Amino acid sequence: MDLSVEGKAYINGSFEQCCIGVENGKISSIKKVLKGDVHLNFGYKLILPAGIDLHVHFRDPGMINKEDFATGSMAAAFGGITCFFDMPNTIPQTTDINSLSDKIMTASKKSFVDFGVYAGITDNNINNIETIAKKCNGFKIYLGSTTNTLMFNKQNLKETLIKISSTNKPVLFHAEDDACLNKYKTIEKNLVDHLNSRPAICEETAIKNILETSKGVNAKVHICHLSSCEGLELLKNRSKNITCGVTPHHCLISAGRNLNPQTHFKVNPPLRTIFDKETLFNVLRNGFIDVLESDHAPHTLDEKDAEFNDAPSGIPGVETIYPMFLYLVKQEKLSFQCLVSLLCEKPAEILNAHKGKIKVGNDADFIVVDLKKECKISSEKLHSKCGWSPFNGWPALFPDAVFVRGEKVIENNEIQVSQGFGKFIGE
Ligand code: NCD
Ligand code: ZN
Repeated sequence: MDLSVEGKAYINGSFEQCCIGVENGKISSIKKVLKGDVHLNFGYKLILPAGIDLHVHFRDPGMINKEDFATGSMAAAFGGITCFFDMPNTIPQTTDINSLSDKIMTASKKSFVDFGVYAGITDNNINNIETIAKKCNGFKIYLGSTTNTLMFNKQNLKETLIKISSTNKPVLFHAEDDACLNKYKTIEKNLVDHLNSRPAICEETAIKNILETSKGVNAKVHICHLSSCEGLELLKNRSKNITCGVTPHHCLISAGRNLNPQTHFKVNPPLRTIFDKETLFNVLRNGFIDVLESDHAPHTLDEKDAEFNDAPSGIPGVETIYPMFLYLVKQEKLSFQCLVSLLCEKPAEILNAHKGKIKVGNDADFIVVDLKKECKISSEKLHSKCGWSPFNGWPALFPDAVFVRGEKVIENNEIQVSQGFGKFIGE
């Protein structure tokens, strides 16, 4: 056995003082006592499954002034995320085999943690879905326009869903209806204007369309970044093949004049009312939401410091998602079971990754957490290239150590592997 790790580990829904054995990057046994070639004893510290962020925009290729696979994956690693899934709205957009292969190659050279990629579906590649499926972990469809989006005509939705269902890969939706967005669009001076120009009815319209169109089609559908009570209501009786995700920003922050600078909180879908925010947090902690996703969408400070109407939408979050929620667990705002399901188990299930659970046969991806070491998030200490965070000053619990496939990737606040350690999962 290459390695054994001892501590208070989260196994099957509860903590046990035990040892996790690792061979060839995989968990080979879990026992009270084990001795590998190397034995690491973390004593009273917690060993939790590492996080999986199924929704990031690492901007590589084409916008590497905002982020690239090295900085994005380093941010992920420091935040306890050992696998991320990258969205297709890069330049070029990943909508065919070539652009997907190129992205996978670039990420394989640069990434510190494991990764997957999405193919964007547009009106032009619907007929190639089966071929494209060979090079991606899932698909993304934008029903409304946002940053550098891939336009998709909703008339094609049924046909697309049928094609996707035969690939067995999930399709993720940005659920804001474009016709609706156009109807409400106004010049925006602040976050309340942004909310009024992308009202909940647009999310509701898009989700209704997805639910109706996917009836009878057995596609694996994921609704990204649910943000409104109206959307939530529609999903209450969803079938098993439909999952939904919430971001930390939508369940922890509401639109208001107190947020400064206002542009730093401009995001799509928009931050909504206090009632939306509180309802989302409540259903999240009660197990109604499937996934917690960051929608890490970095833009430079220069871009974000533009006039409100011209500033791009999107906020970073891959490094802070797990630490912020670990702190909320410590505060007893939600349970370990709930958090691990949201950020580890469910994303692994949706993307078919052998991660997300400390169990024999899975990749040995875990984090070591000392519940006593809480700190305040500081933008300067984060690793995203964008250099700012809307969560600056928020309390958090960062992991002491992070393991990917049994290899220590983070310890003593330093990265322990080189660029390219991360692997594409899916081939
Ligand atoms: C995303 C981005 O910047 O890539 N922005 C955002 O506000 N969420 C685009 C998107 O997926 O909407
Ligand atoms: Zn996104």
